[in-house]
Parts: sequence; structure tokens; C-alpha cells
Amino acid sequence: KATAGHGTAATGGIENPESMLARALADFSVDAPELPDIIDSRAYGSGNYPYTDRPKRGDYEDDLRLLQIELLKVQEWVKKAGERIVIVFEGRDAAGKGGTIHRFVQHLNPRYVRVVALDKPTEIERAQWYFQRYVAHMPYKGEIVMFDRSWYNRAVVEPVMGYCTPAQTAQFLDQVPTFEKMLVDDGIRLFKIWLDIGREMQLKRLHARHKDPLKQWKLSPVDLSAPSRWDAISAARNAMIEASHSPAGPWTAVLSNDKMRARLGAIRQILSHLPYEGRDDRIVGVPDPAIVMDGGTFLE
Ligand code: ADP
Ligand code: MLT
Repeated sequence: KATAGHGTAATGGIENPESMLARALADFSVDAPELPDIIDSRAYGSGNYPYTDRPKRGDYEDDLRLLQIELLKVQEWVKKAGERIVIVFEGRDAAGKGGTIHRFVQHLNPRYVRVVALDKPTEIERAQWYFQRYVAHMPYKGEIVMFDRSWYNRAVVEPVMGYCTPAQTAQFLDQVPTFEKMLVDDGIRLFKIWLDIGREMQLKRLHARHKDPLKQWKLSPVDLSAPSRWDAISAARNAMIEASHSPAGPWTAVLSNDKMRARLGAIRQILSHLPYEGRDDRIVGVPDPAIVMDGGTFLE
């Protein structure tokens, strides 16, 4: 909706793209019938995403299938060797956590893999040790557990939404490396993945989600407030990675504006760090360094 009198004076009638974008961002609403063109056209490249071209869906599907066969080998190995694996997925609303997790578990035996996506804490949980309800979901031998959001709520969502105090976040960031070291010292293999998206891409996905009956359930009050909290979330994310990128619990960031590349990158990252039997390194390869990087590199 172009409003007369906005940003046109200085340029003699033609608004410059940056001010158009600023206005589209400020005026954004998931209820708007159409996504503004300037948001749509900038979504793919937003947040300095390094690619401009989209991969071919057929190539993605072929690669995904081969990687999912590798994941089945991982599951066999985990069962036989009594391994325990925890994979934490974090990221802004609409970063693609659920979709990525779905590709991981799609062809696995559900008896030995669990997805944990906890609701907001109950009164009783709020009266417990913060980590307690997460500890209850740790894997037994032979099991893989995927967390769709995790204890890291206390680092990003909770402080940004005002669901906890700054002191609680500070205490959490102080304690989390020790907590994770205890898990890893006990034999758990821990992976932590931050799915990163650009601002325009988040708006595009939230807008699409609002229109799609199959995705509307994903649109929560937290999501609706996400656009206005963009900068607060960026700051909380950086503080989180800074405080918790540790030897026992290193972060991997995956630039996720392209869902296909992000899913393949996340799966490759995990596969390449597991010494499972029969690993086919021609298929696993190395995760694309343009979009998959260590937490320290991501912060630079
Ligand atoms: P998701 O993005 O995981 O689908 P939401 O956007 O609804 O879920 O919420 C984001 C996270 O914030 C969830 O992990 C949810 O449990 C948590 N959350 C929501 N409300 C509260 C609250 N009042 N206190 C603490 N955590 C909350
Ligand atoms: C998210 O990242 O918002 C959710 O996990 C859902 C998804 O985008 O797949």
C-alpha cells in the first residue's frame, strides 16, 4: 500500500529502494493480502545469503535420498553400539527447524528416534530446576533425540519475549557449558545447529504460513511478534553463541534462506562427524562451507 507523501520529496517522485524497503518492513503484516514485491524479491538474498540461484529440486531429492540412506546406517550403528545422540535445532521463527528435522527422521525407525518439541513450561515445571524437563528427554543407549527448540529458549525466546528475567538468562549462559559437558562426558554425542534466515525471508515465510491451512498451526503469538523483535533476537543469538560455543557443545550455523541447501547441509554436518559403520564419504562429502559454518566463524 503506497501512501502518498512518503519518501518521495527528496527524490522528486521516485522513492529509492532502501526507503521503500524500510517502509515495507515497518508496515509488514501477515494479514496483508499480498506480500510487498520488495520483500518478496529480496527474500532469497536477505541477510547476505551467498547464493542467488536455486538448486534443482530433482538434484536435491536425489541427494537427500542418498543422505537418508546414510542416516539409516547411522541408526543401525547407534543401536548396535549403544550410542546416544542429541541434535538441538535452534533458529528464529520460520527458520525451518521443523522441516529440517522432518527430513532427518523421515525414513528412520521411529522406535529409536524421538523429536522433542516442548510446549511452554507448566506451573510445576516453572517451579523446578530449569534444565529438569529437558534432562527427562535425554536418549537411552541406541536412541537419537532431536530437539525442536531446547533449553536454549532461556537464551533467546524467553528474554526477548519477557518470559524470564535478565538474571535468569545470565545464569543460564553461565551454566550451559557445564551442563553440556556433563552430557558429553557421560557419552552423549551432542550437536547444536542454528538455522539462520534473513529478515525478508522470515517475513515471506510468515506471510505464506498465514495463508496456508496446512501451516497456520505454526503461526503462534511468538511468531507474530517476531518481525518487530528482529534486532533483539539478533543480539540474543549472538550472546548465546558467544557464551555457549564450547569444546563439548560447539555450534554450527546453517544459512537457511534456501531450505533445500540448508537441509542437505545440516544432514551432511552430522554425518561427517559420526564414525558409523559403512560411511560412504563420496555421498557424505563435506558440508558446503558457504552456508555451513562453525559458531565462531558465524559471529565474525
Ligand atoms: P515454535 O516456534 O517452536 O513453533 P512458538 O513460536 O509458539 O513455538 O514459541 C516459541 C517458544 O517459546 C516455544 O518453545 C514455546 O514453548 C516458548 N514459549 C511460549 N510461551 C512461553 C511462555 N509463556 N513461557 C516460556 N516459554 C514460552
Ligand atoms: C520454525 O522453524 O519456525 C518451525 O520449526 C517450523 C518450520 O519452519 O519448519
